[in-house]
Amino acid sequence: MNKQVKTYHIVTFGCQMNERDSETLAGMLEDAGYIGAEDKTSADVVVFNTCSIRDNADKRFFGVLGQWKKRKLSRPDMTVVVCGCMMQQAHIVDAIHRKYSWVDLILGTHNIHRFPELLSDAQSRSGHLSEIWDDAGAVVEELPACRKYPFKAYVNIMYGCNNFCTYCIVPYTRGRERSRRPEDILLEIREIAAQGAKEVTLLGQNVNSYGKSPQGSEGYRTDDVPGGPDFAGLIRMIDEIPGVERIRFMTSHPKDISDDLIRAYAECKHLCPHIHLPVQSGSDAVLTKMNRKYDRTRYLSIVASLRESCPDIAVTTDLIVGFPGESEEDFQDTLDLVETVRFDSAFTFLYSPRKGTPAYSSAEQVPNDVKHDRFDRLIEVIHRIQGEKSRLYQGTTVQVLAEGPSRTDAGRFTGRTESSKVVDFSGTPDVVGRIVPVRITDAGTFSLTGELVR
Ligand code: 5AD
Ligand code: SF4
Repeated sequence: MNKQVKTYHIVTFGCQMNERDSETLAGMLEDAGYIGAEDKTSADVVVFNTCSIRDNADKRFFGVLGQWKKRKLSRPDMTVVVCGCMMQQAHIVDAIHRKYSWVDLILGTHNIHRFPELLSDAQSRSGHLSEIWDDAGAVVEELPACRKYPFKAYVNIMYGCNNFCTYCIVPYTRGRERSRRPEDILLEIREIAAQGAKEVTLLGQNVNSYGKSPQGSEGYRTDDVPGGPDFAGLIRMIDEIPGVERIRFMTSHPKDISDDLIRAYAECKHLCPHIHLPVQSGSDAVLTKMNRKYDRTRYLSIVASLRESCPDIAVTTDLIVGFPGESEEDFQDTLDLVETVRFDSAFTFLYSPRKGTPAYSSAEQVPNDVKHDRFDRLIEVIHRIQGEKSRLYQGTTVQVLAEGPSRTDAGRFTGRTESSKVVDFSGTPDVVGRIVPVRITDAGTFSLTGELVR
């Protein structure tokens, strides 16, 4: 490779928001003349985009960062950048100043648009540069992006979160809710659809409150724009964009789901029959302590309405076990809710105390062995139901957006159904990026196996 060309490598931790931010960071680096490094160890700029949702994400980042120390010290011209959610916490930035002083640049989540300028400042001085903003400003549009896939794309519709669930660090690291203007979102989607994106996933911490931020907040508000779309309205507009074949979104908060969104599942041709609807717990007492603002009756009635509107809808969720004060009885309520809803799949988490959140200092912390025991019992039930639901696909033909070759087997490809199930199937390389019919021959708990229908 021509060594005149500078290269970059980005390590991304965490959720789709971070993956999308990394695409922006990559776009900015490419605009500045960098190209993706073939060999990450020889990259001229290395960026770590961090996550702080749970303690293991913090630990993983520090573990990986530590592995780069030797490389950086042997190549002082390499620029090491750390950014993302962890950097919005003063104790983390302090730790980097003290123990990882060889890091060149620290930036937070609110000033990502300043990355090109900060990078060039950091490279032209000795010692490290740190710029963290406490608050988000207005939404910054027209940032470049180097997207990972041409045929499916993440599109931010809002940033931040106003919900303050008592376990969650996100409102502190991502700031207050700001919605993007519908015209900016639609323009972006029209552009990427024209370039070949078939599937768009709308991103936000709480997409159901799109355009509903309190008065005086930065960003788009339906109350300020007569006739402006709310979330369901936005989906209806995207449904009309030529080329968009699949619409997905992440993540919805049950408290804000509207009847119009539920109707949209019956009426919008391209809205995928899947909803990720985090419930967190099946116990009303725990839901109250979590500040979730719905109870299990309301959650069950939302799921019933969704299934009425869209009988094939796949429902997936997030569950936390061992939240402070969770009793065995509360946990039984969670198991009962899981048996009642029969989720297609669920992400299960051990409660992880996050400094700065209300639940961190609760005196009712659940002992680790109890948490682990409940966790094991919960995933047993989830996996049993997941397997049972998966087996219903056996012998059916599904439409799969083929994402790429299977990691384990040449001649096989991997993709997702409309309901977001992973399918591994035999095919030819021309399937990649297309929506193709696949006959399901085998259905395991975590994925389906099939063959391309010619
Ligand atoms: N501990 C465990 N899980 C958490 N989540 C968020 N904060 C915590 C925490 N402190 C989970 C929730 C959320 C998902 C993204 O991560 O289930 O929906
Ligand atoms: Fe965290 Fe709750 Fe906001 Fe989701 S809705 S990001 S769990 S505070």
